[in-house]
Amino acid sequence: MYKNEEGKLFGVNPSCTHLGCEVKWNNAEKSWDCPCHGARYHYTGKVLNGPADRDLEPVGVEFLIER
Ligand code: FES
Repeated sequence: MYKNEEGKLFGVNPSCTHLGCEVKWNNAEKSWDCPCHGARYHYTGKVLNGPADRDLEPVGVEFLIER
């Protein structure tokens, strides 16, 4: 799960859509990176780099945090 600068949460299923390894958070790039074959995903789950060709599955936690 990632919270952007506006306080919006983005939840994703951490199973890589290539072969199912668990993606790890990359705080420097604000991306989800797969340790197995190098796929990378934007914090919204969209594919940035293959070999994955499908986005991470969103999980239903996208909403604005009340301040
Ligand atoms: S399982 Fe993630 S890149 Fe292959």
